[in-house]
Amino acid sequence: MSDKTRAGTPPAGEESFRRVVEWAPTAMVMVDREGCIVLINAQAERVFGYPREELLGQSVDKLLPGQFAGRHPAYRESFFKDPHPRPMGSGRDLYARHQDGSEFPVEIGLNPIETEEGVMVLASIVDITERQRAQQKLESALQEKTVLLNEVHHRVKNNLQVISSLLNLQATHTGDPRLRAILAESQNRVRAMALTHQLLYERKDYSRIDLGEYLERLAQLLLSSYREDSTHISLRRALPAAPQFLDLERAIPCGLVVTELVTNAFKHAFTGGRTGEVRIELHAVGDELELLVADDGAGLPEGFDLAAVKSLGLQLVPLLADQLGGRFTVEGGPGARFSLRFPSVPLTRRPS
Ligand SMILES: Nc1ncnc2c1ncn2[C@@H]1O[C@H](COP(=O)(O)OP(=O)(O)O)[C@@H](O)[C@H]1O
Ligand SMILES: [Mg+2]
Repeated sequence: MSDKTRAGTPPAGEESFRRVVEWAPTAMVMVDREGCIVLINAQAERVFGYPREELLGQSVDKLLPGQFAGRHPAYRESFFKDPHPRPMGSGRDLYARHQDGSEFPVEIGLNPIETEEGVMVLASIVDITERQRAQQKLESALQEKTVLLNEVHHRVKNNLQVISSLLNLQATHTGDPRLRAILAESQNRVRAMALTHQLLYERKDYSRIDLGEYLERLAQLLLSSYREDSTHISLRRALPAAPQFLDLERAIPCGLVVTELVTNAFKHAFTGGRTGEVRIELHAVGDELELLVADDGAGLPEGFDLAAVKSLGLQLVPLLADQLGGRFTVEGGPGARFSLRFPSVPLTRRPS
């Protein structure tokens, strides 16, 4: 066989070397220092589309796209200066040329082989066309899903805003100030939920919300909603500087709790022109988060009993705390002080 004489592979085990190369599942091409092909295997015939007779003794340039061929001798020379196994052109995109002239992306591993005729380089070539195609398909599918998810959150937010506007419209049509206040409270609950969706699409992070940022934005929203009543009340925030991430499922009950408690403070703590401040605090305590809403107002009515409350707001809060796997407690005055503690890591999802 002509390639046998040219290759001059090691005499000891030469046959088994050839067998291993021949039956290797990747395309293999052995090249001498001058870039002359001395051995190719069956898979290389398939990958490059040549019968081996047309390649043996030919320059390896035949297998390279035109623009690569020029640089190849220098690369080859540097390999032979320091021959050790390595991937070819790491960091560069490599292409090979098929017999029909088409180019395809490849990954190439280089191995020096000692022969009687000196060191040769054995290149293992993997056609990565399919892998790249699959990766591109995956990337564009992911991109499509991301755009969709963004759109969904945008729409949910818009729909919630429509509900909020409807409640507002209803409020302006009623002459009853009590009913107006109830509608305004419901409007704030809806806006607190809409804000979570807004943050998700604004941040382009659909799995979690920074609770600190959410509470800050929620506080501003509540302040603007109680603009007229809040001139004599300041709303302070003590929120962690580092992001404290929560999933959407848990951010919503948190937001609703804060909405109820801050609303209550504005409504009940500073009646009769009393001035003071409301504080929203978020602290990490061990593996729990503590959310505090406190005010230095009039304090809870005498004999206040959370378990006996008949009104909606403070009935909702313990239910929301339950959703978070947390505990809601009313703490002693002066003023009113409410604490919600819940695990900072998500609860394992319960089967629905
Ligand atoms: N920050 C507070 N300061 C004083 N009283 C409060 C405060 N928060 C709640 N309350 C009292 O608890 C009651 C129950 O609150 P809630 O269930 O939210 O009902 P609502 O706000 O509709 O009255 C209030 O009516 C009020 O008397
Ligand atoms: Mg209330």
